[in-house]
Amino acid sequence: MEYQEYGAGNPETILLLHGGGLSWWNYRAEAELLRDRYHVVLPVLDGHAGSGRPFTTVEDCAAGLIAWIDEHLGGSVLLIGGLSLGGQVLLEMLSQRGDVCRYALAESAAVLPSRITGALIGPAFGCSYGLIRDRSFSKLQFRSLRMPEHLFEDYYRDTCGIAKRDMIAFLKASAAYSLKPALSRTEASLHLFAGGKENRRILRSLDAVRAAVPGSRKTVLPGLSHGEFSVSRPEDYVRTIEDILKEQGKEKRKMGKLVAYFSASGVTEAKAKELAEAVGADLWEIAPAVPYTKADLNWMDPKSRSSMEMKDKASRPALAETEHDLGAYDTVYVGFPIWWYTAPTIINTFLETFDFTGKRIVLFATSGGSGIDRAVRDLRKRYPELDIAGGKLLNGKVAGDLF
Ligand SMILES: Cc1cc2nc3c(=O)[nH]c(=O)nc-3n(C[C@H](O)[C@H](O)[C@H](O)COP(=O)(O)O)c2cc1C
Repeated sequence: MEYQEYGAGNPETILLLHGGGLSWWNYRAEAELLRDRYHVVLPVLDGHAGSGRPFTTVEDCAAGLIAWIDEHLGGSVLLIGGLSLGGQVLLEMLSQRGDVCRYALAESAAVLPSRITGALIGPAFGCSYGLIRDRSFSKLQFRSLRMPEHLFEDYYRDTCGIAKRDMIAFLKASAAYSLKPALSRTEASLHLFAGGKENRRILRSLDAVRAAVPGSRKTVLPGLSHGEFSVSRPEDYVRTIEDILKEQGKEKRKMGKLVAYFSASGVTEAKAKELAEAVGADLWEIAPAVPYTKADLNWMDPKSRSSMEMKDKASRPALAETEHDLGAYDTVYVGFPIWWYTAPTIINTFLETFDFTGKRIVLFATSGGSGIDRAVRDLRKRYPELDIAGGKLLNGKVAGDLF
């Protein structure tokens, strides 16, 4: 394997896997910042200029890296980060070897296959591959990726060095990659990142991995496009690595759980109490400043308070209590009755009033028969920055931890 190495004398190793079409210099600035304290290894992925190996599959690429870690680093490292294709290779490494690292930082790694993109790659590259060597075309493409200007020479040199066969192979493999069930068994502390401006496939992939891997964390970085985090914000990226590693001690101290619920007529409240008992959580009512009367809850009346609120996307019914210390909780269960197939708008007020950074949110609901899926979808869409692990309808018996 070809790689660049920094801080070789340091005992703990951080491995950073570049995005498809880029190379080790994707993480050069990070490596410079980390080299005093860590041994940083920046491999060149298979099929990329200077790697010395053709690209075959994401699985082979991951297996090759694991074999290299076995041979040179005793089978496991402190942290592995990866962007896009590199992020997929990282998730695949964790699927093949759950303890290949203690911490993992996967940025913009798609795990939901895109058949259309996959099918278009071959024909599209047949026509345009030659253009890559054209400097002005390359510059246009480089700018569309929003990379810092000083990386252009590296980018131009290394994209020119990628064989057409390899480029098609890794683009196709990346479009086809899907989540492996074995990933859920990883022992690594998995942190998922994406930019708020990324496409739906990437953002939905984050949720899919988040739901599949217990204890994983997701962060959507507002305003950032694909790859911008590691390529253009090395200081932020390194600070994030340091924050993740600082959690090392904190994680061992088990944090608390809170069941927060809104209930207009008592059904959800009863389930919230059962759930808090089952998972050993504190209980807190999301009480409206103005309680709902029976007339307010009449869904047959299009002018009732609940009907009016649910018709108005901007409705944010006031809370009775807006100061509540959530600092001690790392998981917050949020419960509500289903209203008009989704969550009542007071839940929006709740989610917008308190700070849920670093917290895992698990939704639960009661209903007259409707499911919770639409509520989960609506809230994830409205609050992509929140870590909403999933939701469960608790019309039946409450049994233990939900997610
Ligand atoms: C305004 C309103 C709208 C409702 N909409 C739905 C619905 O779309 N689907 C459903 O299955 N139940 C619906 N229900 C029934 C409630 O979800 C159900 O009775 C729930 O268990 C009540 O919980 P609570 O006692 O905690 O308020 C609605 C109830 C109200 C008051």
